[in-house]
Amino acid sequence: MLNEKLLSLLNAQVNFEIYSAYVYLSMAAYCESIDLSGFANFFKVQSQEELFHAMKFYDYIFQKNGVVTLEQIEKPHANFESIAHVFETGYEHEQVVTSRLYKIADVATEEREHATIGLLNWFINEQVEEENTFNTIIKKIKRCENNQAALYMLDDELAARIFTPPTTANA
Ligand code: FEO
Repeated sequence: MLNEKLLSLLNAQVNFEIYSAYVYLSMAAYCESIDLSGFANFFKVQSQEELFHAMKFYDYIFQKNGVVTLEQIEKPHANFESIAHVFETGYEHEQVVTSRLYKIADVATEEREHATIGLLNWFINEQVEEENTFNTIIKKIKRCENNQAALYMLDDELAARIFTPPTTANA
């Protein structure tokens, strides 16, 4: 059984992960609109990952005898200035996710809720990879400045990304 404060934070995170999926789908649509279908594919896969994250919190709440409440999802940002701007916004979004997870982990630690700490550690470790992925692509995009051919090569690289559900012990 989860205490009310922790349940409320975990429930908010279910909603935030669904919002994240929406944010990335909006970024996919922008990339599609400027004919960068490989970048769009990257964000479609990212969107699927976020739904996977949402369901991981969702299942955990029910396993701990709680109930999930779905809230209204905010409209995602849609007006981007460039492909670099999209990834910078994505990187900032992932940093927000990390800070939210740290906050929940702090509360779980205060409550000595060890199972929840274990779950959050899985997510926090995932964030290292998530932030690094965005940061690496931002650096690559910067190197493609004024070089359309290089940008299309990067687009081809990102077209190959596929969604594979994580298979770690906690997944
Ligand atoms: Fe669910 Fe990208 O963090």
